[in-house]
Amino acid sequence: MLAPRGAAVLLLHLVLQPWLAAGAQATPQVFDLLPSSSQRLNPGALLPVLTDPALNDLYVISTFKLQTKSSATIFGLYSSTDNTKYFEFTVMGRLNKAILRYLKNDGKVHLVVFNNLQLADGRRHRILLRLSNLQRGAGSLELYLDCIQVDSIHSLPRAFAGPSQKPETIELRTFQRKPQDFLEELKLVVRGSLFQVASLQDCFLQQSEPLPATGTGDFNRQFLGQMTQLNQLLGEVKDLLRQQVKETSFLRNTIAECQACGPLKFQSPTPSSTVVPPAPPAPPTRPPRRCDSNPCFRGVQCTDSRDGFQCGPCPEGYTGNGITCIDVDECKYHPCYPGVRCINLSPGFRCDACPVGFTGPMVQGVGISFAKSNKQVCTDIDECRNGACVPNSICVNTLGSYRCGPCKPGYTGDQIRGCKAERNCRNPELNPCSVNAQCIEERQGDVTCVCGVGWAGDGYICGKDVDIDSYPDEELPCSARNCKKDNCKYVPNSGQEDADRDGIGDACDEDADGDGILNEQDNCVLIHNVDQRNSDKDIFGDACDNCLSVLNNDQKDTDGDGRGDACDDDMDGDGIKNILDNCPKFPNRDQRDKDGDGVGDACDSCPDVSNPNQSDVDNDLVGDSCDTNQDSDGDGHQDSTDNCPTVINSAQLDTDKDGIGDECDDDDDNDGIPDLVPPGPDNCRLVPNPAQEDSNSDGVGDICESDFDQDQVIDRIDVCPENAEVTLTDFRAYQTVVLDPEGDAQIDPNWVVLNQGMEIVQTMNSDPGLAVGYTAFNGVDFEGTFHVNTQTDDDYAGFIFGYQDSSSFYVVMWKQTEQTYWQATPFRAVAEPGIQLKAVKSKTGPGEHLRNSLWHTGDTSDQVRLLWKDSRNVGWKDKVSYRWFLQHRPQVGYIRVRFYEGSELVADSGVTIDTTMRGGRLGVFCFSQENIIWSNLKYRCNDTIPEDFQEFQTQNFDRFDN
Ligand SMILES: *[C@@H]1O[C@H](CO)[C@@H](O)[C@H](O)[C@H]1NC(C)=O
Ligand SMILES: *[C@@H]1O[C@H](CO)[C@@H](O)[C@H](O)[C@H]1NC(C)=O
Repeated sequence: MLAPRGAAVLLLHLVLQPWLAAGAQATPQVFDLLPSSSQRLNPGALLPVLTDPALNDLYVISTFKLQTKSSATIFGLYSSTDNTKYFEFTVMGRLNKAILRYLKNDGKVHLVVFNNLQLADGRRHRILLRLSNLQRGAGSLELYLDCIQVDSIHSLPRAFAGPSQKPETIELRTFQRKPQDFLEELKLVVRGSLFQVASLQDCFLQQSEPLPATGTGDFNRQFLGQMTQLNQLLGEVKDLLRQQVKETSFLRNTIAECQACGPLKFQSPTPSSTVVPPAPPAPPTRPPRRCDSNPCFRGVQCTDSRDGFQCGPCPEGYTGNGITCIDVDECKYHPCYPGVRCINLSPGFRCDACPVGFTGPMVQGVGISFAKSNKQVCTDIDECRNGACVPNSICVNTLGSYRCGPCKPGYTGDQIRGCKAERNCRNPELNPCSVNAQCIEERQGDVTCVCGVGWAGDGYICGKDVDIDSYPDEELPCSARNCKKDNCKYVPNSGQEDADRDGIGDACDEDADGDGILNEQDNCVLIHNVDQRNSDKDIFGDACDNCLSVLNNDQKDTDGDGRGDACDDDMDGDGIKNILDNCPKFPNRDQRDKDGDGVGDACDSCPDVSNPNQSDVDNDLVGDSCDTNQDSDGDGHQDSTDNCPTVINSAQLDTDKDGIGDECDDDDDNDGIPDLVPPGPDNCRLVPNPAQEDSNSDGVGDICESDFDQDQVIDRIDVCPENAEVTLTDFRAYQTVVLDPEGDAQIDPNWVVLNQGMEIVQTMNSDPGLAVGYTAFNGVDFEGTFHVNTQTDDDYAGFIFGYQDSSSFYVVMWKQTEQTYWQATPFRAVAEPGIQLKAVKSKTGPGEHLRNSLWHTGDTSDQVRLLWKDSRNVGWKDKVSYRWFLQHRPQVGYIRVRFYEGSELVADSGVTIDTTMRGGRLGVFCFSQENIIWSNLKYRCNDTIPEDFQEFQTQNFDRFDN
């Protein structure tokens, strides 16, 4: 199994106990791996031993005891830097399995499963793992349990082409001991014969003479096999002898009783055993008996010969000389399931039925070989699946039985009265939600209430919310945060910021800080500063300026330390001064720079290719020098860096960090339980739990019960419960993309992010631009409140999704009035007022072509396609809140967007199919419009294909069919 070189590398890296390298070639070299052993060895001393080309066999021997049905990794070798698994042996007690994992040549982990092994039963066991044919590539593996070979596997994939790790970074781990468990012995042995190694475990003690040292594994394997057979044979011989003794004494008696019979020539002995029916009585003739006297055992072939007769072999299930045949006791070979009675028949045997709670076929047969190769298999019945407990209660399946627990959450009652839902969305009497709320039933039976669009409150009580920012117009009689009266009734402000605490939110307070100077004149809008002193003459007064004496109108403060970047000599706060820092705006204490281009890996748009100028013309965060734009699956990640190059996975989630994205990884958490196929499906797909503990038998493992991705944000509030990297809606970190960089028609947008990243405000009348979050999504639901808080102007605003680069994204945009763009070059662009859904795939990228194409309502070649337009053709109204709700499922190209005004649905794109962008990032969009608020933003990972997609397909198929 281990390629020779690999084995050498692997073993070299161990922190091993000493062994004095000396002795004959075939003398076993033993390395005690138990940490308790006293002496330690410099791993380098192993090199000459392991690189010896004569090394062919490698053994691991271990003695341990595990509690019944427990699971444990007996030993494993891991990289101590990145936890890569090199070699690991795990016992899964409940499943009667053991699993060996090792790193293959190609860097993936190979799994070998040993079935029907009772290793965790509270008894001490000895295992011996033998890896042979190391020199020949396709190696083989044998497992011996308590001196008996229980499995062998051949032609295993080669292992460890050469781990990239440095030798000292490999570490050995053994299992966490529980009080009842112990690990008594763990040794690694090279060379020596199987016999010699086995004797280290006190196996085959009958053989005290050392074997001639042949050094070849084959001989010894044969020998061991023979020993095992010999043991069995001996047992059979003993049986036979016992019978023979009986027969002899019978014969003696017969002779004694038959003194009168005269000279005895030849008479077949007749056993008196009650098991074997006596042979027919001998005829009263003296000449040699012939076959016609039926001298052979019932059913045995008889052949006449010169001096008598000859009997054929005994029938199956008997042993003897053909004249006398005695029933074999097959039960000695334990053909029945442990605990099941074995009945020896004559001939043959029968097993009683499987124990209560187990199921299995009847086993009945004849002969030793049948008994050995047709052992009774009894499998546990999952009573829970058959409804053993009352519905909606907890049922725990155990081996051979089951247990009923209390009612599941959300239900009341018990096993006698049944479990009834306390709350239920389907039954109006049990629905606790406000009539203006949506009732949602969770997986566990819990019910959640969410106020509908245009309403706010705790879900049980919902009040009108005219600006759709999730705070009600009037105080509600409940205690949740969202029951408080909105401090700006008509202006969305989902964070309710109120600098002067006067009860009027900043968003609608003419003098937000209450210093008597109206916001428009105030150089510190949110900080009380009557003196208006401003030392550096930028637009921020000293009281709120993060650089007192440096002019910095952007007030940017990367590390959020209160000192603006313009006057902070360590902008990212990583302890390395800007001038020395190879990533001045990205904390990277390590300063690693693989390609030596002066830009640290942490912020390098091409970490492997030298590109000191970092140019990224298409704004996809991949530098031009390494940007291939070669993206087979269209998910926005070029093939060379895509962790699933042929599977759509814009999110690029790789939970186990093995370089294979979850979407194309059969075992996302690398715990050896495949995600979907047996022995899976994994009941915690994203959290390693090789033993699959599930004490309430709800199909979700204990370790991930309420937090499936274990990101410390419980599923109920996690916006991506199956992605540990995304937990809450947050646009605080965003990338600014200017869509007309050359044009100076207007200025660039100015984005302000509020409410912990759930609200964005754009204040400038600007060129087209985007603020794009950094999180890329597969399927996503994206909603927000859109509001233009001014009567000035009538231009475009909206949001984007599926952003891959500045030439590739979807935009939903809305203009107030019809208008022809004032720059007629490169072409005349006419904007209509209705809501539009556009796919942007621009050949030119940002510039005047894209600018005019965005403005234009319609298709433009090589730039923009209009996928849908609201047929009402009405513009947005000043100072009115609209709620949008977008569903994007890039796997199938499904797009649907709805717009609400108040609680009324006013526009709906219906099912729209487009596959130009297979997922991407989210953001907001503006073009020549100031004072836009995107409030109460929410995104959620969602890969569920909506039902109307199916209907849409069927309808379109029908249409095609007719
Ligand atoms: C950046 O450097 C690359 C070569 O490394 C060059 O081709 C490119 O023109 C440069 N771009 C800018 C904007 O300077
Ligand atoms: C995910 O999308 C499906 C189909 O559109 C929808 O029924 C479901 O409610 C969504 N899930 C969440 C958590 O919003």
